[in-house]
Amino acid sequence: MKYGYFDDAQREYVITRPDTPLPWINYLGCEEYFGLISNTAGGYSFYKDARLRRLTRYRYNNAPLDMGGRYLYLRDNGTGKYWSPSWMPTRGKLDEYECRHGQGYTIITSKLNGIRSSTKYFVPLGESLEIWQVTLTNEGEADVDLSLFSAVEFCLWDANDDTTNFQRNYSIGQVEIVDEVIYHKTEYRERRDHFAYFACSERLAGFDTIREEFLGTYRGWNEPAVVEEGESCNSVAHGWQPIGSHHVKVSLKPGEQKVISFILGYQENPKDDKFDPPGSQVINKKSAKKALEKYLQPINANKAFYELREYWTMLLGKLQVTTPDAHTDRMVNIWNAYQCMVTFNMSRSASYFESGIGRGMGFRDSNQDLLGFVHMIPERARERILDIAATQLKNGGAFHQYQPLTKRGNNDVGSGFNDDPAWLVLGVAAYVKESGDWSILDVPVQYENEPGTETPLYEHLQRSILYTLDRLGPNNLPLIGRADWNDCLNLNCFSDTPGQSFQTTTNKDGQVAESVFIAGLFVLACQEMAGITRKLKEERGDSFVIPLSSDDYLKFATDMEATVWAAGWDGEWFRRAYDDFGHVLGSKENTEGQIFIEPQGICIMAGLGLENGNAVKALDSVGERLATPHGIVLQQPAFSQYYLHLGEISSYPPGYKENAGVFCHTNPWIMIAESIVGRGDKAFDYYTRINPSAREEISELHKCEPYVYAQMIAGKDAPTHGEAKNSWLSGTAAWNYVAITQHILGIRPAFDGLEVKPVMPSRWNGFEATRSFRGVHYEISVRREGPGNEVSLEVDGTPVQGTVIPLPKEEINTVKVKAVIR
Ligand code: GLC
Ligand code: GLC
Repeated sequence: MKYGYFDDAQREYVITRPDTPLPWINYLGCEEYFGLISNTAGGYSFYKDARLRRLTRYRYNNAPLDMGGRYLYLRDNGTGKYWSPSWMPTRGKLDEYECRHGQGYTIITSKLNGIRSSTKYFVPLGESLEIWQVTLTNEGEADVDLSLFSAVEFCLWDANDDTTNFQRNYSIGQVEIVDEVIYHKTEYRERRDHFAYFACSERLAGFDTIREEFLGTYRGWNEPAVVEEGESCNSVAHGWQPIGSHHVKVSLKPGEQKVISFILGYQENPKDDKFDPPGSQVINKKSAKKALEKYLQPINANKAFYELREYWTMLLGKLQVTTPDAHTDRMVNIWNAYQCMVTFNMSRSASYFESGIGRGMGFRDSNQDLLGFVHMIPERARERILDIAATQLKNGGAFHQYQPLTKRGNNDVGSGFNDDPAWLVLGVAAYVKESGDWSILDVPVQYENEPGTETPLYEHLQRSILYTLDRLGPNNLPLIGRADWNDCLNLNCFSDTPGQSFQTTTNKDGQVAESVFIAGLFVLACQEMAGITRKLKEERGDSFVIPLSSDDYLKFATDMEATVWAAGWDGEWFRRAYDDFGHVLGSKENTEGQIFIEPQGICIMAGLGLENGNAVKALDSVGERLATPHGIVLQQPAFSQYYLHLGEISSYPPGYKENAGVFCHTNPWIMIAESIVGRGDKAFDYYTRINPSAREEISELHKCEPYVYAQMIAGKDAPTHGEAKNSWLSGTAAWNYVAITQHILGIRPAFDGLEVKPVMPSRWNGFEATRSFRGVHYEISVRREGPGNEVSLEVDGTPVQGTVIPLPKEEINTVKVKAVIR
């Protein structure tokens, strides 16, 4: 069953009924000001950091779902009947309803008793504010006299404090109301230099800023007393729960239309210019006023909206494809790329599953996310890499997370996740391949954000590699530390105390437990490092003095490969790890957790088993033991009980999350591995099983948005097999994008140019693509002439050797590529 449809021409998903199985959300903002918005206008806003600069409140795990948002109420003053044009929070029956989620905007339209209301929510580029543009139309036969109420509930900035420190919070709320603008200025009187404002384009009939006056004591957002009465209280908040609510009266004749705008914004003032007049306690509002004057005028708002759409056309235009499969086209051209950009903005911090309080940006996560957006915004990817690298520890390790506002490593979660540093190498390699910007390797970057510790970025990468070599275990495999990619495989934790964090509790010295996954990742990272080093040496010759050569890195890789064959191969698949007792995990010898997906993916991506046939063997084992119609589960058999020596992975009931759920992030590794061994049909089949668009028809089971990937789909051991959770912020976005675009469609950046090497499904007879790469526009046409994967390339009419298109001469900015597959 579907709850809407894709409007591909508009690049929108159109939701046609409000009661979706979960709130289906979208993101507003793409620079510094952000918001989450659901299909019923739920959600919240923040500036840069969802924890430290939260503008509005939102209540997770509330009943009903999705409480708190950008609410509007319409009241027919003739009859006294009122409703929410976005359905929530009044949830009354609407005659029509539609929500269009696009890139960075959402439009919610509904109609009741002849009154059509359409609200467009978006954040203009370059601004720290959001516009709600409401268009009201009287489609009925009689004059109507309406009241329109707005409502947001302010958060007292630090979202964590806001939900815990009530003894203080109930006394600090402050507002100012001047003309049509409500200013939220809690803590502005002391150390904060920032405030929020909520403005309306119309003369007000009234306002409210005290929540309980607006709602009425013991009443909910579904039946505010003020809306029921049709009369605001003009309340001025002191402490308690400050809100912002405007009341506007609108009379409409039949056929008449009116546009009313609301603006919610964030503004900082210079420390010494906070108050106006100086010495008073009144906010200096000059800065905010400029933006308000501009965007309260529909003509400017409309222009900003147009620019936002153009911006996304430009970003998405970096790669566009036309294939025989509509789901592929829509995900590659629109939604998967869009989701990658959102993961760039949010990492894992703010979604309907992540409160924005608990986590900063992940070191490994951010490096992997980069793989999915680097082609759209290489300059910002560069900046991101430098930020991440500056949190690296001097010993080559990494803070597991860092705070976006401060850009500093987050000590709460600490370090010791032994895979973290290797991802930096992969992230940097991806950036250099995309941009050709070798200068990034020379940039001096701090360690642990400590001034004076700078070395060139190149040395950071070198330390990342050595970090693994310095930490080998009894089998010469890399020690796992707190966890490797799988945050829940905690082999040194041994926690028997409820509530302890599995990621930060360590009861073992960590000198025994080893990870085959990190071994594979290390091989991959060494190969990239060898590639980077070889190129630098070629270009810079003797002036490039380094302790380790490209051959040294290749030697590290081949030595590690030998170790994997000796200790990490189980006969039919790659093993997963060795625990603190030195016992193997992910082996026929185990009763539960015999085979894991991660080492199969990463080892084959690193090229292991391509020559001796073991890669195919391992992939066949995955197909037999892990694949389900809803995707490939993480391991089998699921852990039926809690195992002290395995940690969080066994804390989940079977079939969920890392305990044998379809952890979607890992599925593309298998798609890539299948492409590498030349099995395009299998790769594409796995791609389709978890492609959200291809799952749209089973939305009542899948539950999450059909336009973005979710972190997990419940596995075959779960009673809810096929149900997705944790949508939007997941490494799944980047890796699926890489799997489909770089491996199945085979268009991938290489150090020396753009490579075209598809491994397509056998039934496809070709596809077309356009790709911008290092300032050149590539028009690529692929045609199948035989059943295999052999590629012959013709570039601007001339055959070229191999699969990498040499970079064209400087004056050429369009290149036509013909690829024939036999
Ligand atoms: C989450 C984490 C990521 C980890 C994965 C598997 O997605 O953000 O870092 O690799 O879970 O545990
Ligand atoms: C991890 C992942 C997740 C896991 C959680 C453990 O980073 O998001 O899948 O369950 O954190 O705290």
